[in-house]
Amino acid sequence: MQTVSTRVALAKAVAAIKSGGKTLALVPTMGALHRGHLALVEAARARADCVAVSIFVNPLQFGANEDLATYPRQPDHDAAMLRAAGVDLVWAPTRDAMLPPGFATTVGVAGLDAALCGLHRPGHFDGVATIVLKLFNQVRPDVAVFGEKDWQQLTIIRRMARDLDLAQPSADAIIAVATVREADGLALSSRNRYLSPADRTRAGALNRAMRAGVAAIVAGEAVEPVLDRLRAALCDAGFDRIDYADVRTADTLDPITDWQGQAARLLVAAHIGGARLIDNLAVEPGCAA
Ligand code: PAF
Repeated sequence: MQTVSTRVALAKAVAAIKSGGKTLALVPTMGALHRGHLALVEAARARADCVAVSIFVNPLQFGANEDLATYPRQPDHDAAMLRAAGVDLVWAPTRDAMLPPGFATTVGVAGLDAALCGLHRPGHFDGVATIVLKLFNQVRPDVAVFGEKDWQQLTIIRRMARDLDLAQPSADAIIAVATVREADGLALSSRNRYLSPADRTRAGALNRAMRAGVAAIVAGEAVEPVLDRLRAALCDAGFDRIDYADVRTADTLDPITDWQGQAARLLVAAHIGGARLIDNLAVEPGCAA
C-alpha cells in the first residue's frame, strides 16, 4: 500500500496504475475509519482492479460551531485498517495540498441541498461537492463508492456528476453501499464515539423508531402521523432535539405526504448527548418493526 500526500506523488501513483491498464476505484473518506468504511472498500475492490482511499478532514464542510477541531484523527489506525483490507493507494493530502492559499471556488448543487441536512448545516454540501469534485479530478477513478448513510450527500454527488457530465467517474459509476449497523440497528459513524455509554444505549431507539415508521407507512398509514409518533418516540428515548424527520423521494428528495409505492426514503437527524445522529431507510415492504 502506497500513501501519498502531494499532488505530484498522487499523479505518479495514479499514472502507474492506469499505464498498467488497470481500473481504479476511489473511496473518499475523512478518516476515523470503521467497519462501514471497510464495506465501501470491499465494494470498490469488487468493481475495479485497484482501490484508492482518500483521507481528508474537509474544513469546507464544517460549520463555524461544528466539530472540525475535535473530529477524530487516527492516521496510524486508519493505515493499518486499509493495509489489512488490501487497499493499493491512500491519498492523504495536507490542507495546503488540497486548499492552497487563494483557493476561491465553490461547487453548489442548488435545490437538493435546500432541505434536511442542507437546511440545518448551511454550506455543508457546497463544501462536500467542492472537495469531492476535486478528489474526482485528482484521482480520475473509473468508479467511486459512497455510503447510503449520507443519503443526501449521495444524491447531490450523483446530480453533480450528471449535471457536469463527469466522465471519471460518470454518474452511473457512483456506487452506493448499504449502511452498516450495530446489532441494535445504530448506523456506524465516526461520530458515534461522542456518545456516552448511556446515550449509546439510548441511541438504538433511532433505528427502532425508524423501522416502525417505515412499517406503518408501508401498511398504508398517512406519513405525517407516523412522523409525529417517531418524533415522540425519540423524545421519550432521551433525544434532546430533532433536526428533521421526513419522507422524501429517493432521488429528487421531494417531500412525500402520501406514499404511493414510489422510491422513497425516511430520513432523520436527531441530537442525543451532544452527538448529532443521522440515518435513513428505504420506504419499502420488508422493513420489519
Ligand atoms: O462522507 C464523507 O466522509 C465526506 O463527506 C466526504 C465524501 C469524504 C467528503 O469530504
